[in-house]
Amino acid sequence: MPQTTLFNDNWQFDGAPVRLPHNAVDLPYSYFDENSYQRPFTYEKTFANHPDWAGREVCLRFDGAMANAKVYLNGAEIAAHADGYTPFEARLTGALKAGENSLKVVIDGAENPAIPPFGGAIDYLTYAGIYRDVWIETRPALALGLIKVETPDVLAQTKTVAVTAQLRNPQGLALAGKLTAILRDAKGQEIAQTSAPVAGAATTLRLDGLKGIALWDIDAPHLYTIEVLLDAPSGADSVTTTFGFRAAEFTPDGFLLNGRPLKLRGLNRHQSFPYVGYALGKSAQERDAEILKHELHVNLVRTSHYPQSKWFLDHCDRIGLLVFEEIPGWQHIGDRAWQAASVENVRAMITRDWNHPSIIIWGVRINESQDNHDFYTATNAMARSLDTTRQTGGVRYITGSELLEDVYTMNDFIMGEFEHGGNRPRTALRPQQEVTGLKRNVPYIVTEYNGHMYPTKMGDQEQRQAEHVTRHLEVLDAAYGDPNVSGCIGWCAFDYNTHKDFGSGDRICHHGVMDMFREPKFAAYAYASQCAPDEAIVMEPVTYYARGERNIGGILPLIVLTNCDEVELQYGNNAPKRVQPDRAKYPNLPHAPVVITKDNFSAAELGQWGMKWESGQITGYLNGKAVATRRFACDPLPTTLQVAPDALNIGADDSLRVMIRVLDQVGNKLPFMTDSVDISVTGPAQRLGPQQVPLRAGATGFWLQATGAGDITVRVSHPRLGTATVQIAAKGTSA
Ligand code: GAL
Repeated sequence: MPQTTLFNDNWQFDGAPVRLPHNAVDLPYSYFDENSYQRPFTYEKTFANHPDWAGREVCLRFDGAMANAKVYLNGAEIAAHADGYTPFEARLTGALKAGENSLKVVIDGAENPAIPPFGGAIDYLTYAGIYRDVWIETRPALALGLIKVETPDVLAQTKTVAVTAQLRNPQGLALAGKLTAILRDAKGQEIAQTSAPVAGAATTLRLDGLKGIALWDIDAPHLYTIEVLLDAPSGADSVTTTFGFRAAEFTPDGFLLNGRPLKLRGLNRHQSFPYVGYALGKSAQERDAEILKHELHVNLVRTSHYPQSKWFLDHCDRIGLLVFEEIPGWQHIGDRAWQAASVENVRAMITRDWNHPSIIIWGVRINESQDNHDFYTATNAMARSLDTTRQTGGVRYITGSELLEDVYTMNDFIMGEFEHGGNRPRTALRPQQEVTGLKRNVPYIVTEYNGHMYPTKMGDQEQRQAEHVTRHLEVLDAAYGDPNVSGCIGWCAFDYNTHKDFGSGDRICHHGVMDMFREPKFAAYAYASQCAPDEAIVMEPVTYYARGERNIGGILPLIVLTNCDEVELQYGNNAPKRVQPDRAKYPNLPHAPVVITKDNFSAAELGQWGMKWESGQITGYLNGKAVATRRFACDPLPTTLQVAPDALNIGADDSLRVMIRVLDQVGNKLPFMTDSVDISVTGPAQRLGPQQVPLRAGATGFWLQATGAGDITVRVSHPRLGTATVQIAAKGTSA
């Protein structure tokens, strides 16, 4: 059996003990020097050779280290890996001494032009550090290697699983033994098994005639496991892999999941967080997937622009969130060696992730690069040789690009072009044949839009927020309305830190529908409100509700992002107004917003309107029943200091987000509140980020990192509202 244990504890970094995942240089929230981490760093660890390891292969697995890693055991180099996003192993066998051993890992955070994505300017940061988990694994000399699970004919009544087991044989032993594959359901109940003799370096076992299998789908993400057992003269080994039965296909007439049309509604995700960059572990990764699925209610995420954490992908499998995964890169293509490294990244990405049912397409181009026939022929060939079950895409912004992939994946930033000259009127999306230059329709998806065309900060003026919302809605509506578009993936889910060459000068691209703390801007609800009301009732008026925030004043036209049938506005003592969704402007959205305009008021009412500023209330109705209410105070004042952790307990090694908000007397966030708050944490946890922080648009957040078991107390003080306290239980074991 392989023994796999986390190897995250007791590292030495810069003269101090640290635990992985680790960020080499923490950054301020904004306005930092992005060169500060672009240099070499050393991590060291001593550990004892274990008697149980005798006669076994021992290796370390690094899930991710940025960007260029070299591993030394007792002074001798044992591994090197020149990619910051894919895993690598360091074989300890043969170099281990009896007793204490010393391990040194040197990582170079420089943007080395020999390594993708580097060589040009890139619009994101690649924070240095051993920022994902490290594991120590032991196994017999002849052991199981990569396991690939495929489910051909998945829509047939009786189903098949084909399991290909590769062997690891670093000592060159004779290939012999028996392989067994056991299929189990999510509860661990055995469904079928089969055995076959080892037939070389890779052996395929088939389980046929499977009945009663549940498909993996976004609403019912049924998972199964395959345990592969190797019984060989040199010892036994076993590996368990999770997978699902599902068919995913992009066609010229849209995307099909399990043969059923599904419009893809997605957002792009960078894997970065404030202060600590990439270095948050399992729980924060899972939380991001939760936010995308259950707060933003998208059905797809693109891992722009690199393979992301296994914890994130595992959770996408579990919760039914589809994934577009791609290789590291951004516009720049380097020389032949660089391109060969990129082809190797295709291999590393696919062999790491081919069993995830959530992943429906491989991105095998450098995001937004120019055409390069030979290079992209090679990346596509690599993808197809490894995985015949998924289509390829390659994200570009150029039109008429050579289609070497199965799907034309296009960043269509035409929305916004109308402001930059040209005769074209405001356009949400171009028809695909105009983009592809082809005379036929092909499988097609829009992989980005908006972003830099309309950066919008949390707390920007209400009219800008309304326009931000409208641009996202218009593109979504266009994608829903075009049967030849599989869907659209907005730029982007979360604001992210970036280089001076991009963003607002503060080293932030304010392109998210959420900020870096994952606090929603109004545009978040353009996506969220498209979900069915039985999933969640969404009703978000795009207003700060103030008399003079907009130019000239007032709050009309007022967009209410909602999946309710109609909305009622009660303003002061005026007669309430019921308004239905704006189907004229948004004929295709699952849930068009309600837009309340002057036309909803009589001249007499408009006379009253605005003379005096009064409180209001907005109520959402579904099937004639009031299902959502928002009250708005005409005289908002700071009333509540809200301290909202994502959970009240935290597992060992886990992190936990805590949001801090200042609310008015009816529970709305005060959108222009900028006071500072002071955060103190006692107990077995560390606060990531500074002790004193300003509220940004009425809120701020931070992550707690557990350091042991016991009670954690978080105290937040605000100059006017005093102190709010929250208790969190640290379990000291995994959550
Ligand atoms: C795209 C690019 C993204 C991001 C975005 C901003 O061109 O692919 O990474 O920079 O623009 O809108």
